[in-house]
Parts: sequence; structure tokens; C-alpha cells
Amino acid sequence: MQRRIVPDGTESVAAALIDLADGWAADLILVTGGTGPAPRDRTPERVAAVIDFDLPGFGEAMRAASLAEVPTAILSRQGAGVRGRSLIVTLPGNPGAIATCLNAVFPAVPYALDLIGAARIETDPARIRAFRPAAKPSP
Ligand code: MTE
Repeated sequence: MQRRIVPDGTESVAAALIDLADGWAADLILVTGGTGPAPRDRTPERVAAVIDFDLPGFGEAMRAASLAEVPTAILSRQGAGVRGRSLIVTLPGNPGAIATCLNAVFPAVPYALDLIGAARIETDPARIRAFRPAAKPSP
């Protein structure tokens, strides 16, 4: 596991993501913080600049789960995207909010990694159950 701590709002967020995705071939990159609307909260813009495409369902699911807890979740700009074979998930900074958001999206993460050609992962079902659609029967 690789960890990077970079200041909010700086270009180094994008540089760290490129290094993890391209240099380390990371399968899953979790980014925390900087997703609100304050002047320093520019993580979503840094992520948008480096991903090949967006997976909007992640942000939708995270906001839906968070809105059940706090009305200010409407201010959040969490999301996910793919760069090469790396899945990048942008989470809030507050540990409680991270847990809510990760629990909301993680069941779909293993299959997302399968689809983008990243590593196959299994989860501990006691903590979180991965969902993979049943394989279609061959004709
Ligand atoms: N989501 C949950 N589950 N719980 C929270 O307390 N706070 C919101 C939102 N999502 C919150 C939440 C608020 S107030 C903000 S500004 C955004 O997350 C962005 O958080 P960040 O700046 O730590 O990334």
C-alpha cells in the first residue's frame, strides 16, 4: 500500500494520482478530503484533470447515503473515475463520512476493478459483501 499526503487545492494532488496510477499501477486509489465547496476544496477538479472517464454512480450513491445522515452532504462533490487500469474514488475528509461513503460504494468496487482490467479482489463478507453479477450462461 502506498500513501501520499498532499496539501488541499494544490497541483500536487494530480501529480500524486498520476504517480500512483501510472508509476505504481495501483488498482484502487482512495482520495480523501477537499471535496467541499470552500476555496481550498479542489480535489474533484484535480481528479477530473487526470481521469480518462467518470463513474457518476459512485458520487450519487455516496451523496444518497450521506444525505440520510446530514443535510450538508448536499455540499459534497465525491465521485470516482478511471485512469488506465486504476479506479480512483474521491471521498470526504471526515472519518465518519468516509465510512458512510465507502460502505455505500464498496460492494461495487471489486466488479468495477474486474471490468477495468485491474486486480481481482475479494472482500471479507463479515465487513462488506462484494456484488458481482452472475455470469451469463454461454449459448
Ligand atoms: N457526508 C457524511 N456522511 N457526513 C458528513 O458529515 N459532511 C459534508 C459532506 N458529506 C458530511 C458528508 C460536508 S459539510 C462537506 S463540506 C463535504 O462532505 C466535503 O467534505 P470534505 O471537505 O472533508 O471533503
